Amino acid sequence: MSSIIETKGITKLYGKTRAVDEVSINVNQGDIYGLIGKNGAGKTTLMKLLLGLAVPKSGTVKLFGGADLSRSRKRIGSLIEAPALYKNQTAFENMKRFSYFAPATDDEIKSILTFVGLGNTGWKRAGQFSLGMKQRLGIAIALLGRPDVLILDEPVNGLDPAGIKEIRDVILELNSKGVTFLISSHLLDELGKIATRYGIMANGRLVEEISAAQVEEECRGCLKVVTDDSFKAFNTLAAWRRDIKAEVYGNELQIKSPVEDSSVVASLLVNAGVRVYELKAENVGLENFFIERLGR
Ligand SMILES: Nc1ncnc2c1ncn2[C@@H]1O[C@H](COP(=O)(O)OP(=O)(O)OP(=O)(O)O)[C@@H](O)[C@H]1O
Ligand SMILES: [Mg+2]
Repeated sequence: MSSIIETKGITKLYGKTRAVDEVSINVNQGDIYGLIGKNGAGKTTLMKLLLGLAVPKSGTVKLFGGADLSRSRKRIGSLIEAPALYKNQTAFENMKRFSYFAPATDDEIKSILTFVGLGNTGWKRAGQFSLGMKQRLGIAIALLGRPDVLILDEPVNGLDPAGIKEIRDVILELNSKGVTFLISSHLLDELGKIATRYGIMANGRLVEEISAAQVEEECRGCLKVVTDDSFKAFNTLAAWRRDIKAEVYGNELQIKSPVEDSSVVASLLVNAGVRVYELKAENVGLENFFIERLGR
């Protein structure tokens, strides 16, 4: 699998803040790579470093396997934070302006606008667009020049649920045609629907890089049990299976070892005199997986 984005020990300081600290990531051809982290973790800064919008203090970036960054960057479309739009111009006129950097014919522009759901905005100016419309226009601009890679910083920020789904479909369709994505988002459930790999950032550092399959594997068959006595529940289960992995969060016990038959757990607990209020056989959840790594 060929590497599309590769950094080695990349570091960016703002004053004394290590915004990006010795980060080595690897995005492969065809990935939808989800970058996750709390506010201030360094996601946007890392994207800016990749795009040449910020200069690293140290470390290296390779794009498409090579070190000729200015040429490679022409193959990357991006939307970083809010799109910088010409407020007094229409969606089409904005696209014309930006196509100066990434050439596109009028027909191509029209089809991109239709693709992102802005086919009917007519004479409305970008300054009068809703947040979601501006975001869509930002994505449309990123698509100019038929990029092989899209770097999208919080692309569904401000979109309504229907809009989020539309952007998801846009991403999946482009990905099926071979476009590689690096996407940051706080909406873990949403990211979980599309990402093939994740990079988890905290305090400028890359805490973990993990595939979606691995995340699923870790959570499969896990159980969430709400009882009147988490510790008694834990001890009961530990007596049943000595190697059981479980964590207590208040009245909630999260069993992290796969349990084949949740009814066995229920009857064990009830027989031990523990009141069981809730027992969920669904996975402990992508969200918990990340929260564990990022801290509560
Ligand atoms: N232009 C700047 N000048 C000074 N400090 C900055 C600048 N840009 C970012 N920082 C600092 O770098 C750190 C990382 O910021 P960054 O914007 O990359 O985080 P983020 O993960 O994108 O957060 P969010 O989820 O809120 O978008 C923060 O501590 C931030 O204050
Ligand atoms: Mg950010």
